[in-house]
Amino acid sequence: MDTYFDANILTGTGLLAPDVNHKKIRAFLQEQIKPVRELMAYYQCAMMEVETKFKVLSQELSLEYDRNPIETIKTRLKSMDSITDKLLDRGFSLTLENIEQQLNDVAGVRVICGLPSDIYELADAFLRQDDVRLIMKKDYIATPKENGYRSLHLIVEIPIFLHDEKKMMKVEVQLRTISMDWWASLEHKIRYKKDIVVEESVANELRTCAETAAALDMRMEQLQKYISAKAMAE
Ligand code: GTP
Ligand code: MG
Repeated sequence: MDTYFDANILTGTGLLAPDVNHKKIRAFLQEQIKPVRELMAYYQCAMMEVETKFKVLSQELSLEYDRNPIETIKTRLKSMDSITDKLLDRGFSLTLENIEQQLNDVAGVRVICGLPSDIYELADAFLRQDDVRLIMKKDYIATPKENGYRSLHLIVEIPIFLHDEKKMMKVEVQLRTISMDWWASLEHKIRYKKDIVVEESVANELRTCAETAAALDMRMEQLQKYISAKAMAE
């Protein structure tokens, strides 16, 4: 079903007459966009579910280890403009079915952790939950992208419970450390998806920054391990 209004959408509805009450036109248009708004609301719910799952894990791990593995959780719903651009760029028409089938990142949750080991611990605990179905995993920490980008990406499907049905919704989860997030945010501002070609030296410099950040993560991780082992021994 197409989600954009046709220029002639009111033709044949009887709503073009000059004396028609505005309320009637608004109600008609609201009815037209209702299916899209509903779908977006479902994605919003799925995103909230995933966010809550990570908050619960964080709470539990904090109690157990007296150390909060999550620094922040950010959520975002893809805008209708971005959804439209992505579908059309990939040669799909703008339909509800295509939004659900072709896009994995309408709902996005970004989990920012302290240390790299927190990422895997959280991801494993999240994926062990029996209502979370893993669709795709991309480990850009084990295998960073050419430009230096690091993060663990999960595409999952989780159920949301509506009054009369259970609906499976896709959510993109990105897990990264503070330093990976710092690098990715800056790199995004500087370069990501801008259609410019930078000199090899600039690309190398960006990648070196990412490697330096990753090395710092590892040093902090070792410090944390050393200190917690010492604390256990005492
Ligand atoms: P889209 O870019 O969303 O079409 O997804 P994809 O199929 O290329 O998937 P991928 O998992 O590689 O990237 C998904 C998301 O991760 C992006 O939308 C960004 O938020 C983030 N990301 C991936 N690569 C980079 C990168 O090189 N730099 C930055 N800053 N973010 C990236
Ligand atoms: Mg994306």
